[in-house]
Amino acid sequence: MKFSATDRQKTLYINGLSGSKPLIPIDANKLRETAKERLSTEAYTYIAGGAGREDTMTANRQGFNQWQIVPRVLNDVSERNTSLNLFGQSLNSPFLLAPIGVLEMAHRNADRAVAQAAKNTATPMIFSNQASISMESCARILEESPHWFQLYWSQSDELVKSLVKRAEGCGCTAIVVTLDTTLLGWRSRDLDLAYLPFLEGKGIAQYTSDPVFMQMLEEKDDTAAKQTSRNINPTSLAALVGLAWRFPGSFLGNLSSGTPLKAVRKFVNIYSRPSITWENLAFLRQHTSLPIILKGILHPDDALKALQYGADGIIVSNHGGRQVDGAISAIAALPDVVKAINRKIPVLMDSGIRGGADAFKALALGATAVCIGRPYVYALAIAGSEGIEELINNYKADFELTMALTGCKSLEEINKNCLT
Ligand code: GLV
Repeated sequence: MKFSATDRQKTLYINGLSGSKPLIPIDANKLRETAKERLSTEAYTYIAGGAGREDTMTANRQGFNQWQIVPRVLNDVSERNTSLNLFGQSLNSPFLLAPIGVLEMAHRNADRAVAQAAKNTATPMIFSNQASISMESCARILEESPHWFQLYWSQSDELVKSLVKRAEGCGCTAIVVTLDTTLLGWRSRDLDLAYLPFLEGKGIAQYTSDPVFMQMLEEKDDTAAKQTSRNINPTSLAALVGLAWRFPGSFLGNLSSGTPLKAVRKFVNIYSRPSITWENLAFLRQHTSLPIILKGILHPDDALKALQYGADGIIVSNHGGRQVDGAISAIAALPDVVKAINRKIPVLMDSGIRGGADAFKALALGATAVCIGRPYVYALAIAGSEGIEELINNYKADFELTMALTGCKSLEEINKNCLT
């Protein structure tokens, strides 16, 4: 059934007549606060936190406030079209779900719940390389609904090849390479808690479901053992038991083999490659015919390089302010990057999108589409898959109404003249 913004709005009001309130708060701050009540301290901290003093997170929001929409009137907006074509796929709205790892911290159905909501709303899901559920399991839920794979460039070329091959095998239609997290940013809140979910074996399902990775566990690796060795005390023992529970296979088998701990150590040592350069992209091109989208571009010169090195698309992003504190906001970086790209390839954007008006501003500044990040994790924490579905529908409705009330009937009519 075709989505209608006005029907969505009516449903919410009419439900109110029988006393039902929306499943998840509409307001972005209330959404976060409600999720906070449902999440463990560690989970909320990891999801909500950013790098350093979180100035970039603040800038991501303030950046949107520096642009204002200037509505136009009397333009017959009775029929509206929010569809677009992206990498040969037809999409019903300019929203995608950003790749976000370790969703088991938010809800036990984790990535499966996201896949279900993505499918129900025909919204592209970008599988995280640090997912809690394997890409194959999610792809089975999504079937023909669009899905992409996000890659962290591992230390091992064989693993990169294997992940990409699996993504192709389970129907992903693009590979998104995250370039801004070759090292983990300085995350003050997580450091204060001394907590990183991966060390508990969370968010490593793409690895433990990978034949190349599992083969690597057979190899001896003394460095890994030294780097992550810990004191034996009740807390570390409890962590080991938890790890053995979560890991694929039998609990007792896991406990006696020590494989889960080996997997965590291996993951920590190989998940990313700080030495990666533009030249490495040729390797990926050799191994996939899917569109390659570079995520984490903020400088126009890097946008030009992306073109030069044959990228099929880019995502302007500062990783939701989680990597470089003090970095330019994504919305502030967007216009110069768009100018450099000069319509040669699609420019997507994330970091700070909290509703329809933000998406409208990003599109007016030249983005082809935008990715929703943290808000869908909060919706997941509050109401599982249905929560995410509601969130997506709310964003779509808000966007379409903003577009119409600004005098635009389709995405093509949204441009810089709509802003001041
Ligand atoms: C990983 O991508 C993170 O932002 O935590």
